[in-house]
Order: sequence, then structure tokens, then C-alpha cells
Amino acid sequence: MRAEKDGYDHYMLKEIAEQPRAYRDTMLGRIDGDSHGIVLPELQLAPEQIRQIQHIHMVACGTAYHAALVGKAVIERLTRIPVEIDVASEYRYRQPIIREHTLVIAVSQSGETADTLAAMREAKLSGAHILAITNVVGSSVAREADDVLFTWAGPEIAVASTKAYTSQLIVIYMLALYLSQCLNTLDAVTRTEMLAMMERLPVQIEEMLEDTRRVQRIAGELAECGNLFFIGRGLDYMVALEASLKLKEISYIHSEAYPAGELKHGSLALIEEGTPVIALATQEALLEKTISNIKEVKARGAYVIGVALEGNMDMAKTADEVIYVPRTHPLLTPAVSVIPLQLLAYYAALARGNDVDKPRNLAKSVTVE
Ligand code: G6P
Repeated sequence: MRAEKDGYDHYMLKEIAEQPRAYRDTMLGRIDGDSHGIVLPELQLAPEQIRQIQHIHMVACGTAYHAALVGKAVIERLTRIPVEIDVASEYRYRQPIIREHTLVIAVSQSGETADTLAAMREAKLSGAHILAITNVVGSSVAREADDVLFTWAGPEIAVASTKAYTSQLIVIYMLALYLSQCLNTLDAVTRTEMLAMMERLPVQIEEMLEDTRRVQRIAGELAECGNLFFIGRGLDYMVALEASLKLKEISYIHSEAYPAGELKHGSLALIEEGTPVIALATQEALLEKTISNIKEVKARGAYVIGVALEGNMDMAKTADEVIYVPRTHPLLTPAVSVIPLQLLAYYAALARGNDVDKPRNLAKSVTVE
């Protein structure tokens, strides 16, 4: 059994370690060095159709939904097309407004999630063009969509999704850049910069994974607690949601993710002496505000673990502990900042003696609505 795990104790740890490879495979052949652009030859959607898109809807469940949240932010930023996003099981009950030029993007690792399939079918009936982002060739989602972009993460066995999530992010970045090329909404210099930074991600993650002792130590401490919070602004909040889900899924520690600025509007009442707060602050434009939110929780006794870009001294001065992540383009930070938080969940679950790969009550793919 250990052989199948390439010497790792668990599939989850193996899959976390596979992320640099998954990033490379997912980018392979899709970044054109000559034109400094994205090429997606598999896409049926023609540039003329792309130029007619008025709205985008994104649907997904669980971890894939969290990748789609990043997708909404990035696609809107790079293309200026409005994007709505729904948890797939809610989509059809709100009678979404699908017009002639609505593109619906469904994100699903397995391609078999019943809720996502139902949302796709509903959208298809209303005439939308369906683009799937999935990891499984031949899956129902892949077969039923009009267009498919595959994530090449390879089989994911652990119930808690890691490499599939980050590969979804990579596809979403490439799709957003491709759309922006067709629409001419992003200058060539920024695009070239972003592409170069994307290509550096695998090496940066390899370096990050070389020494995970700090994360292991912090996870050991957190394993004792019953309750914790994740906070962040912008893309950091979206990663906070995913980090919180990961921790809940396998460690069974109760955690909640909040936009850093929203905590003071109610949930701050839950902070008491020693409550752990994991504060993500990788968005430099929002740093000052996030630091002031960290001070608010610290003043109420919170024990703050910051997640910040390498060299960020403000965080070192404010938080009790800091986990540093490598610098990249601000829109790409979720692809690096989530990695130590996946490890945090893994080591906390391990310290609590849980079955990391098969957490209680959960299934890898849920085929009922
Ligand atoms: C299940 C899994 C989650 C996953 C979700 C969506 O609930 O336990 O890890 O994120 O389904 O799965 P999908 O295959 O559609 O991405």
C-alpha cells in the first residue's frame, strides 16, 4: 500500500507533494513562448463568440467552488465581464437569468458530482454554452459540456482535495488570460509578466515543500484547540475559505473563515484569550487594512498566525507566528498561499489520530443531490 503512495504515509501528503508536477502538466502546451500568450486549441468557443459573451456564471461544489471563487475575481479583473457564482446545489432554485450570450463554467474534479451536473443541465436547457473544467477524461461533466478544459492533476485519491484545487486555479488563470487576449482587455506587458510568474510557480512550490517543519510545529499546537478562525481580504479570503474547509474535513476542528473587515460586525464576540486566528495577508494593496484587523483580534487576546509574502516585516511585528510564502503576481498568490494551509490541515489531522485519507462522513465524489 505504501508503494502506491510512493513512500508517503498518506495519499493526501503525496498529492500535496505532486502539485509542482501537476502545475507543469496543466500548463504544458498552453503557454506560447513566442507570442507570450495562452493557446487553448481544444476550445470550441471561437474568439468571435467570446467577444459576444455578456455574462459568465460559475457553478461548483466544495473545494471546486472555492477555486471558482478565485475564478470569479480573476476573470472579472482581467476581462471586465461580470461573473456570478453559485454553489451548484443552489443554482437552479434561484431561477438564474441566462441570456443568449451567457457562458456557464462548471468546475468539478471528479466530473461526477450530481449537484454540478444538475446545474449544468439546467443551464444547457436555457441555451447557455457550457464550459467544464474537470480532472477526469470521459466523466459525465466532460461528456455533457460543450467545451472542456482538463486539469492534468492525475488521479486524486485522498478525499480532501489538494492538487485538483490548485490545478483548477491554474486552468482558471489560463482561461482568464485567454479571454483577455480575445477581448483585448489586458496589456501585453502585464500578460507576459503574469505568464512568466506562472511558469515559476512549480519551482517556488518545490522550494516551499523542502522544509515544512514550522507548519508541522504550528499544526501540532493547533491540534489541541476546538475552534479557530481564518481571516483575509480579497483573494486571501477565498483561500481562507478553502483552508478552513480543509481543516474541518480532516481534523474535525471547528473553524470559520471571515473577510478580515467583517469580523468586527459580529463574530469578533467569539474571540477570547488564546483563540487561534490564521490571518492571510498576501495582497499588498490591502495589507495595511488587514494588519489593522489583526491588531483588533490581538487586542481581544487572539493568538495570530500570519500567512504573508517573504520579507513582509509588518506581519513579523504584528503576528505571533508567521508562515511565509514566495512572492508572485498578486492574482496568483492563491496558488502558493494555500499549500502551507493544506499541510497545516494534514498535520493537525495526523496529530489528532484521524484517518486523513478517508475522513468520517465524507465521500470523494457525491453522486446524489
Ligand atoms: C465532495 C468532496 C469534496 C469536493 C466536492 C466536489 O464533497 O468530498 O472534496 O470538493 O465533492 O467534487 P468535484 O469532484 O465536483 O470537484
